Amino acid sequence: MSTVSRSRCAYLLPLAIVVSLCACTNRGSDEAVDLADEVTQGSAGATLEEGQRIFRYDTFGDETHWTNELRLHEVVNEKMQPVEALALGLKVDMDKLDLSKFIAHNPLAAGGTRELLRQDAVVGLKATFDEKGDIATLGVTCALCHSTVDNAMLPGIGHRLDGWPNRDLDPGAIIAMSPSLSSEQKAVYNSWGKGMYDPRYNQDNKNGPVVIPPAFGLKGVHPIIFTGDGQDISYWNRYVAVTQMGGHGTFTDPRIGDSGVNVTNGTDDLVSSKLPALQAYQISLPSPPPPKGSFNAEAAQRGEQLFRGAAGCAECHSGPLFTDAGTRLHDPSEVVSEPEADGVPSYASRSATKKYRTTPLKGVWQHPPYFHNGSAKTLEAVVSTYNERKSLGLSKSQVGDVAEYLKSL
Ligand code: HEC
Ligand code: HEC
Repeated sequence: MSTVSRSRCAYLLPLAIVVSLCACTNRGSDEAVDLADEVTQGSAGATLEEGQRIFRYDTFGDETHWTNELRLHEVVNEKMQPVEALALGLKVDMDKLDLSKFIAHNPLAAGGTRELLRQDAVVGLKATFDEKGDIATLGVTCALCHSTVDNAMLPGIGHRLDGWPNRDLDPGAIIAMSPSLSSEQKAVYNSWGKGMYDPRYNQDNKNGPVVIPPAFGLKGVHPIIFTGDGQDISYWNRYVAVTQMGGHGTFTDPRIGDSGVNVTNGTDDLVSSKLPALQAYQISLPSPPPPKGSFNAEAAQRGEQLFRGAAGCAECHSGPLFTDAGTRLHDPSEVVSEPEADGVPSYASRSATKKYRTTPLKGVWQHPPYFHNGSAKTLEAVVSTYNERKSLGLSKSQVGDVAEYLKSL
């Protein structure tokens, strides 16, 4: 567990949890709130509810991978304290949390983590237990990477925010704890860092992680993912469920790599039948509006003029979704985030299309860093990059204005 650097602050968390016990009366709050107005009665509502359940809690049988192959259940069972789990970016769903039981199981030791899992309160992780109370199986769900919490109780503990990328999560460091991996593999996984994941490394053995993107604001966006590999969300959901999570089912795409990707796990199919509801749920997730007072409205107005005019942004970020994805993809040579750092292979070259999709921009304020490789830390840095690489000739204050506009979307 040497990969986790624990801040002093993290050590204070269990204490803070105990203190907040008295103040907290949120257990069992109404889950339906998360579905906003989308879920009413009838079959559409039922589909969304089913999709939400799959997104949050379904492992597609991937315990075969995380338990039998990676043996991460042993690590979590024996060694992972709640503070370490939080330091790795794992989130706790306070609507599932039974604080008094949690505290009774020693929040300072692995027993506390086991209790959180027993309560189904760790976002994106699913465990089962043997009769001794040890973890028997561990699996992961879509929510691990594509949900976070609003920190309503404490940093890392709050109400679920489905579709919000978990940019605190260090998936590589979690996987690297597996006793089943070689030291070369561990070094690659440990190199990724928070909010980053390479969904192609285990297929092509190249190392070039990308940011975990939001799964909200995707209604009407086709094709999907950074490289536009699939027309619909289900294409990629099948890819991730089978090739990354280790869920039972099949994924094939002859366009990727030298000989295509062709993966089958198990003899059963626990993925296909779930894809329609899962897709419907993701499409129902709106991009979050910017927080009040988070941008300067006058500057944003000037920025919009530039975005649509002199800066040329709307040539590609066009229409209500701020993307031309429906009509074309772009060669890496047109894209300012390429070429990448020394030694990092072009992400597009590893995809099915070898190109990039213009990223939709609604809710972009929510998820720094930017570009597929996270190379721009802020929206100002994004606009500066365009200004330099495309020789736009914007002044410093104009760069700021365009950034303010982006914050308003
Ligand atoms: C280990 C982290 C991880 C898990 C688990 C995961 N994803 Fe992702 N997801 C990613 C990354 C990284 C990308 C970016 C890949 C790309 O665009 O090339 C991505 C891309 C996506 C996109 C594309 C968004 C867009 O802008 O087009 C959607 C939708 C999505 N994931 C949904 C899901 C669903 C549903 C599941 C569960 C079946 C899931 N993901 C599981 C990391 C993850
Ligand atoms: C030639 C088409 C094109 C033009 C012109 C263009 N973009 Fe982009 N934009 C893209 C593509 C493609 C991506 C995805 C690149 C990546 O992820 O590395 C992108 C990504 C972005 C992102 C990152 C979004 C995220 O979620 O990470 C922002 C912000 C952005 N562009 C803003 C702008 C602004 C502002 C301008 C004008 C100064 C502009 N773009 C001009 C095609 C374009």
